[in-house]
Amino acid sequence: MQAQIMLLPGDGIGPEIMAVAEAALQAIAAAGGHDFRCRTAPIGGAAIDATGAALPEETLTACREADAVLLGAVGGPRWHNAAVRPEQGLLDLRLGLGLYANLRPITVHPALVDASPVRPERLSGVDLLIVRELTGGLYFGPRREGMDFAEDVCRYHRSEVERVVRRAAELASRRRGRITLIDKANVLATSRLWRQVTRELIEREWPQLELEILLVDAAAMHLITRPAEFDVIVTENLFGDILTDEAATLSGSLGMLPSASLGDDGPGLFEPAHGSAPEQAGGDTANPFAMLLSTAMMLRWSLGLESEAERLEQSVSACIDAGATTADLGGPLGTRAAGEAVLAQLQQAAA
Ligand code: IPM
Ligand code: MG
Repeated sequence: MQAQIMLLPGDGIGPEIMAVAEAALQAIAAAGGHDFRCRTAPIGGAAIDATGAALPEETLTACREADAVLLGAVGGPRWHNAAVRPEQGLLDLRLGLGLYANLRPITVHPALVDASPVRPERLSGVDLLIVRELTGGLYFGPRREGMDFAEDVCRYHRSEVERVVRRAAELASRRRGRITLIDKANVLATSRLWRQVTRELIEREWPQLELEILLVDAAAMHLITRPAEFDVIVTENLFGDILTDEAATLSGSLGMLPSASLGDDGPGLFEPAHGSAPEQAGGDTANPFAMLLSTAMMLRWSLGLESEAERLEQSVSACIDAGATTADLGGPLGTRAAGEAVLAQLQQAAA
């Protein structure tokens, strides 16, 4: 197939892990007779430096015209006092592409059980998918900021809740049939809306699903004490941001957590859930696996190349089995070498 893919390396370790992803894409294209046309554009701090805007208009337009978008990471201390923050570029991109559902899958590779701070017996069978609402809530409400006063407003409309819960329910019905809503309905009005809408929707359209509802503080604890019991979790934007970092520690490293951000149509956005790790930038130490696993999600969700996606995931997995990993996973390799190890696995799979 032919596909237009936008590459947005961004800041910090972004360019290094993106180079690894691009090499993997080209290897997959060569092996499968595909034609992936990759173009690169600036976002985040790199875009602020080049153009003054965190999401230049040309970048957004090019992304809209692409079949899929791959992103490295944005942000860094250099721009902390800048008039525009790099992160705003990512938020504007998510909103601009209508990507309301953010899928973050968490599994534990058997060879990484000891890399996790959680006890091995609790990790067996962990296979959960967090569906985070991505274009509403506190991230996108009106904001005011003064010297002695600041305000962030959390708003949700029924339709915003319905569409993301529907997406989560569809996914749950193709998995183990369990869906957990995480909210703070004992305090927040938005959470009471989420609860009401979710109950109605599941009862009406997915009565076969088992719906569990947890308060976010308890859920933070349950994710550590009984992670294997979760199947699909659906939650609002900020809770999803926090809980996905927490859940990533189950898999041994935040450097293992990929994500897919999807809307109703148009290109999806695929990015590792970790940040730009500015202190590691340029040091060839960053773990490229979350970037590669995000690339696999892109092959699956935006390009419909399921077997290519699986081959890439299996190649990463084989490297973990062989100890061919970066230091965060206990291995001896740098970013480039870990990428090359995955390429070697890919080539072996294609031969
Ligand atoms: C994430 C990140 C972003 C978020 C930041 C970089 C704006 O933490 O994707 O989880 O908060 O959504
Ligand atoms: Mg986050």
